[in-house]
Amino acid sequence: MTIIDGKAVSAAVKEEIKSETAKLKEKGITVGLAVILVGDDPASKIYVANKKKACEDLGFVSEEYLLPENTKTSELLELINVLNNEKSINGILCQLPLPKQIDEQTVINAISPLKDVDAFHPSNVGKIMIDDYDFVPCTPAGIMEMLKYYNIEISGKNCVVIGRSNIVGKPMSMLLLHQNGTVTTCHSRTKDLSEYTRKADILVSAVGKANFVTADMVKDGAVVIDVGMNRENGKLCGDVVFDEVSKKASFITPVPGGVGPMTIAMLMKNTLTAAKKQNNI
Ligand code: GUN
Repeated sequence: MTIIDGKAVSAAVKEEIKSETAKLKEKGITVGLAVILVGDDPASKIYVANKKKACEDLGFVSEEYLLPENTKTSELLELINVLNNEKSINGILCQLPLPKQIDEQTVINAISPLKDVDAFHPSNVGKIMIDDYDFVPCTPAGIMEMLKYYNIEISGKNCVVIGRSNIVGKPMSMLLLHQNGTVTTCHSRTKDLSEYTRKADILVSAVGKANFVTADMVKDGAVVIDVGMNRENGKLCGDVVFDEVSKKASFITPVPGGVGPMTIAMLMKNTLTAAKKQNNI
């Protein structure tokens, strides 16, 4: 059994981005990311701080906009409009979830698809569907990168994704399908979930419930990817019961140190791609 080292893979990805960013700088081209956080959700604050640090480490221009909890949709749209037209900013990320008075889809739709480094805009979502895209949502992109790094074959394999969110489950299923996996997307209404998961050669869990995936749900030799970011007694843990599932898996991601670091690395990669596209490189 191999524990997939998300920190090592993300470090390799970031190293490449850093050197490309330095080369662009020599040509007078900068790479800039603006991150918007509305309200003071403690988990979101940590994610945003981590994104800012990653930008600084890679030599990106980093702008952070912290707006109060009671921000109106119109105020947020105004800021997005300014950033859409700001040349030094190549990528815009508005941290989700947003406070309840703000309509998330309206905000996502307002971000220029060319600067949509989350790949949440309907135009980018559609491009993923037809396998002709520039940006991929960061979490599924990070998982694909880890599978590639460890030479894990996808073609012809039974791939089961638990979760159907727009951020993870749906794009994950689509990316695995594009690599010729036989993909099943399971969700909260799936009957006899373990009937599906036990057939999975590659199992991706994006449920958000601690201890959800147990050893009896997993096939011997499966590749198990844990997207869960759950807090149990103040400790970060995934969806998978690591101690028992790792005994059956051929590859498994830990939490922390698996998918998490990859998500940020892929956000940086999307931002670099945005900068190159906007400078016709
Ligand atoms: N909240 C949780 N994950 C994400 C993400 O990938 N992007 C944004 N914008 N918000 C999130």
